[in-house]
Amino acid sequence: MGTSTDVPLDPSLVALAATASLPIDLNDEALDTPAILVDLDILDANIEGMAGVARRAGVALRPHAKSHKSFYVADKQLAAGAVGLCVATVGEAEAMWQHGVGDILLAYSVVGERKLERLRPLVDAEVVTLVTDSIEVAEGYSRLARLMNRRIPVLLEIDTGMHRVGVSPEDAGAVGATIAALPGLEVRGILTHAGHAHDATDQLGIALVARQEAREMQAAREGLEAQGIEVSVVSAGSTITTPYLSAADGITEVRPGTYVYNDLRTLSCFACTPDQIAATMLATVVSRGPGRATINAGSKSITTSRMTDYGFGRLLGSPGTSFSRLSEEHGVLSLAPEDEELRVGDRVRVLPIHICVWMDLQREIYGIREGRVVERIRVDAMRRSL
Ligand SMILES: Cc1ncc(COP(=O)(O)O)c(C=O)c1O
Repeated sequence: MGTSTDVPLDPSLVALAATASLPIDLNDEALDTPAILVDLDILDANIEGMAGVARRAGVALRPHAKSHKSFYVADKQLAAGAVGLCVATVGEAEAMWQHGVGDILLAYSVVGERKLERLRPLVDAEVVTLVTDSIEVAEGYSRLARLMNRRIPVLLEIDTGMHRVGVSPEDAGAVGATIAALPGLEVRGILTHAGHAHDATDQLGIALVARQEAREMQAAREGLEAQGIEVSVVSAGSTITTPYLSAADGITEVRPGTYVYNDLRTLSCFACTPDQIAATMLATVVSRGPGRATINAGSKSITTSRMTDYGFGRLLGSPGTSFSRLSEEHGVLSLAPEDEELRVGDRVRVLPIHICVWMDLQREIYGIREGRVVERIRVDAMRRSL
């Protein structure tokens, strides 16, 4: 498969010196900060673990690549048995296709001529399945299919309770039939994302959202089948709801994304343990005051994602220290007594609240094993939000 690592990056834009000879220690000055570290043993175990969960549940695994945006990780997921990838933007789809991924689900309604035009090569190569929750969006796909004299596979997006996008299960049959009648489109099934599972306050709450996800998808499937549409794909399941879904519910594939790296959100949703969080931000203390250390990772690197339990994040190995404030290039830490020894120049590792948005801001991240940097990893589709 091709890789964008063939094209060298401007060395001033990446944290690791071009001349660095790996492996190096995390304190080595060849590695500047802030920089994202990925523990490769944890990454590998997470990828294998979710592949096993899907296998045992009798469902196909189609990881969402927006969480890593990286060919390196995509290759590992496909090698572990993923049937293809899910992406959120045309730009991510283009990147993964150019890399050689042959089965891509673009799980986002594509609206606008320029985006539709960019899909042409992917439609031509028959690698992409599109998603819609409206006749208007489907008409755009149908126009493209007719212009290209192709049939485009389509999934109808169902709202199973998040109320972000999607048709209700009750309307699925009627909307599906109208879309299926449009020339050039082949309605293959249905898709949902139950992101509201993150709002649950306990594990039972998450299980209940997953049960509802499965039930409503079953209702939507029956609606389509009543219209004579064969439903071969029922796509659901995120990192936190996948463990509660299986083929017995009629689910055919799951699309977890965050599980590759995990974060404090998946930890608080019982989807991982602390030792399954693979990614941290290496940052440097740039100022000290009584009870305070300020690091060079602010909202432009760790983002403003925030949780009641963990604020803007936590330091690896320092559970008592928390962020008291965040500005663009400064993260201000309120130090637990045991962390008072931190000095200017010391390095700390920040645990992510929401890893997907961290990754979108990085050109390159660094694979570590046994506490040493062993590999550069390109974030090939960073900022491909168009
Ligand atoms: C449509 C869709 N599918 C799958 C996912 C993967 O969810 P997670 O990263 O929680 O596993 C997302 C994430 O937002 C999504 O929007």
